[in-house]
Amino acid sequence: MIKKIGLFTSGGDAPGMNACIRAVVRTAIYHGIEIFGIERGYVGMIDNMIIPMNSHSVSNIIQRGGTILKCARSTEFMTVEGRQKAFVNLETHGIDGLIAIGGNGTYTGGIKFYEEFGIPIIGVPGTIDNDLYGTDYTIGYDTAINTALQAIDKIRDTADSFDRMFFVEVMGRDAGFIAMDVGIGGGAEAIFIPEFEESIEDMVAMIKKGWGRKKTSQLIIVAEGDEHGNAFEIAEAIKKRIPDFEYRVTVLGHIQRGGSPSARDRVLASRLGQAAVDGLIKGYNQEAVGIVNDIITYTPLAEAIGKRKEISKDLVKLVEILSN
Ligand code: F6P
Repeated sequence: MIKKIGLFTSGGDAPGMNACIRAVVRTAIYHGIEIFGIERGYVGMIDNMIIPMNSHSVSNIIQRGGTILKCARSTEFMTVEGRQKAFVNLETHGIDGLIAIGGNGTYTGGIKFYEEFGIPIIGVPGTIDNDLYGTDYTIGYDTAINTALQAIDKIRDTADSFDRMFFVEVMGRDAGFIAMDVGIGGGAEAIFIPEFEESIEDMVAMIKKGWGRKKTSQLIIVAEGDEHGNAFEIAEAIKKRIPDFEYRVTVLGHIQRGGSPSARDRVLASRLGQAAVDGLIKGYNQEAVGIVNDIITYTPLAEAIGKRKEISKDLVKLVEILSN
C-alpha cells in the first residue's frame, strides 16, 4: 500500500491544474496517505523543493489558473546524474508513489525515471494541446479554446469593419486540436493544421471565391505546428500569388494558457485527480489516467505519448461546407 505520494506539475501550465492538485491532495488525505508537493516539476525534484501538503494547502485554488506548484522544463532531468539526485531526494522523504500532471515531456521523464529507480508513477493529462492518447480531453484544453474563441470573436469585429483578412495563429505544439475547434467555433473560412495537408493553391482559390461573393471578412486559423510554417509565412505565401492581397496576422500566444478554468476543466481535473490516487492505491504503475466516453480509463504512459490521437476528417469537410 502506498504511504507517501509526491505530486508535481510539469511542462506547460494549463488552466485546471490547480483543481487537479486539490483533488489529488484531498483524495490522498481521505485515504490516509501522506502527500508532498514537488515544486517546479523535475527541477524541484532535483533541487529538493519538496513540501508537505494538507487539506488547507489547496483551499481556494479550484478557480485559479496556472499552478500553485509551478511548472518548469528541466534539462538536468534528462541526465542520469540529475535523475539520481531526484531519486535521493524522494527516497529521503519516503515517497513511494508519484503523480505527474503534464504532457508529453512529463510522461517521457516519468517512464525513464521508473525504469531506473522503480518508483511507481501515474500520469494525469494536463496540457492545453489535447494531444495525449487515452483521454478525450486534457486538462486546460476547454479553457484554452474558449479563451482563444473570445479573442477570435473580437478579431472578427475589426476584420469585418475593414473588410479584411486575418490569419490567427493558435498554440497546440504539433497538434491541431485547438485550431480545429476554435476554427469551427469561430466560423473560420479555413484552418491550417499539421494533421492534414492543405494546399496554398486551394486557399488562394477560396479567397478569390470569397471576394467574388463579397465576403466582408475572412478568418484563417493556423495551428503553430503546421507544415507550411507559421501564420506570417502562410500569409506571405498567399500574397505571392495574390499581390494586392491585404492581410493582418495575430498570434494569440500564451494568453491561451492563462485564466480561470472553465467548469468543464474543473470537473475533468477533479475526476482525473481522484482517479490518479485511486490508481496508485490499486497498484497501477506507468499508466496515464484519462476519460474516454465519460468513463475513467488507464492507458500505459508509453502508449499515451506514442499513439496519435486522431482528428476526424469529417471536421475538415465541415469547415469547407460551412465557409461556403
Ligand atoms: O504544450 C503547451 C504549449 O503551450 C504549446 O501549445 C506550445 O507550443 C508550448 O507549450 C509553448 O511553450 P513555452 O511556454 O515553453 O514557450
